[in-house]
Amino acid sequence: MYDSGKVIIGLVIFVAIATFPFWFGMGKAAPMPEPQLPKGKKECVESKEFMRSTHMQLLNEWRDQALRDGDRTYVNHEGKKIWISLQNTCMKCHDNKEVFCDKCHIYANVKPYCWDCHFIPKESKQWN
Ligand code: HEC
Ligand code: HEC
Ligand code: HEC
Repeated sequence: MYDSGKVIIGLVIFVAIATFPFWFGMGKAAPMPEPQLPKGKKECVESKEFMRSTHMQLLNEWRDQALRDGDRTYVNHEGKKIWISLQNTCMKCHDNKEVFCDKCHIYANVKPYCWDCHFIPKESKQWN
């Protein structure tokens, strides 16, 4: 028959490797990557905390407001008016998708399909 001891060792090694990403991070704070923020700009359209947790919903709201209601003015929590545009607002400041959006999305394993239609900004010089 077969050597059950070896099978068990093999299984233990397999399980250890398969679950490596889970236990490797244990004990440390989850190392969310640091996306590169635009230089020379201090503020986003909302606070950093809000953006970090809620940018997905905000973008949905923006799209609905712009397309359903034809209204492209967003009023933020400080009462400031902001032009609604993924390309001409968000990506004007965050003008390198790779060092910003993608950094987190690859880590979080999300692949927004937005770029099937919306332009990715050309690499700006600020990152060279
Ligand atoms: C005027 C320039 C500007 C615009 C426009 C802008 N951002 Fe930002 N964004 C920033 C800055 C600067 C920060 C960092 C803010 C801070 O450190 O308080 C930031 C932070 C963020 C963060 C959090 C990053 C982190 O490290 O947690 C996300 C997510 C984000 N922005 C997404 C967006 C999206 C989506 C849009 C469009 C809806 C947008 N930004 C529009 C300048 C901008
Ligand atoms: C600080 C990290 C971070 C940054 C920077 C960031 N995102 Fe995200 N984004 C996430 C996470 C995490 C999710 C998944 C959230 C969830 O599933 O609840 C997400 C989800 C999304 C979604 C929804 C996708 C889906 O399939 O549900 C969109 C759209 C999106 N991000 C757009 C952007 C854009 C555009 C930028 C760059 C301007 C950006 N994000 C920058 C962390 C980030
Ligand atoms: C099938 C193509 C397509 C996809 C995919 C798509 N969009 Fe759009 N989006 C459009 C078109 C077309 C408009 C209208 C542009 C206009 O009227 O100027 C638009 C408008 C918008 C607007 C408002 C106005 C503007 O100029 O930005 C936002 C915000 C937006 N989309 C966000 C998103 C986000 C976030 C995603 C990914 C989760 C996404 N879109 C995916 C085609 C698409």
